[in-house]
Amino acid sequence: MTTTVETARTWKPVRDELERKGVSLGFVPTMGALHPGHTSLIEQSLAENNRTVVSIFVNPTQFNDPTDLQTYPRPLDHDRALLEDLKVDYLFLPDRDTIYPDDCRFEVTENEVSKLLCGAHRPGHFDGVLSVVMRLFNIIQPQRAYFGEKDYQQYQLIKEMVKAFFLGVEIRRCPIVRDPDGVALSSRNALLSADGRTLAAEFARILKDGDSPSAVRTALEARNIEVEYVEEMFGRRLAAVVIDGVRLIDNVPLVGS
Ligand code: PAJ
Repeated sequence: MTTTVETARTWKPVRDELERKGVSLGFVPTMGALHPGHTSLIEQSLAENNRTVVSIFVNPTQFNDPTDLQTYPRPLDHDRALLEDLKVDYLFLPDRDTIYPDDCRFEVTENEVSKLLCGAHRPGHFDGVLSVVMRLFNIIQPQRAYFGEKDYQQYQLIKEMVKAFFLGVEIRRCPIVRDPDGVALSSRNALLSADGRTLAAEFARILKDGDSPSAVRTALEARNIEVEYVEEMFGRRLAAVVIDGVRLIDNVPLVGS
């Protein structure tokens, strides 16, 4: 049975008891609307730890578009049933006041990598991500935390934040889960039209097969796909595009890395 915990105060005795018993704790932070991409992280945590806690919190500080925040899917009953099926031990389901008791007076900022790629197009986004993850780590106090390569820049920044602030959490990275047509799973894919879905599959294929970032950009634009960026960094080729008004991100390892 999955036990739901809603506050830092009620999580503390649970965490203390796990500490006393000497069992390991894995943590999978999410914003809900769970799909097999999330499931793969959860399964890895279940395999590597005695207990697993999944958090669901649609973090307002990482949304720079208020409509995006309002329309973000929140299928909580579906998510709860999925966590039960997976035999996840704990669901951490905080409200805004639990995470931001200071009403967001304090914030984690990063001044280099967070300004590039997605950060260049979503100002403040990564500071919001880092701030919520720092708070969640301090509440949950896991041994390990799981992040998907799908959001590669996010993974990279979190790994570096843990090092910079001497946080005692091991960051584990998990491969991108894709549909059979190559599209990386994302809750936003549901918003695509049938034609948009075909273009999303083209996006995945061109990103992987293109000879260079500029060749990828040219091939995408030839299909009238709006390109935010295509760049190579962290040994990956990363891109963001807009299809049907839906922003999609993806990345692939560079050959040889
Ligand atoms: P969310 O978008 O819900 O994603 C939660 C985790 O699932 C992230 O680590 C993300 O990289 C991973 N994930 C999503 N789609 C995936 C896929 N197709 N394959 C593999 N992993 C995938 O990322 C966030 O939430 C938030 O920014 C969060 C870290 C929870 C902070 O609010």
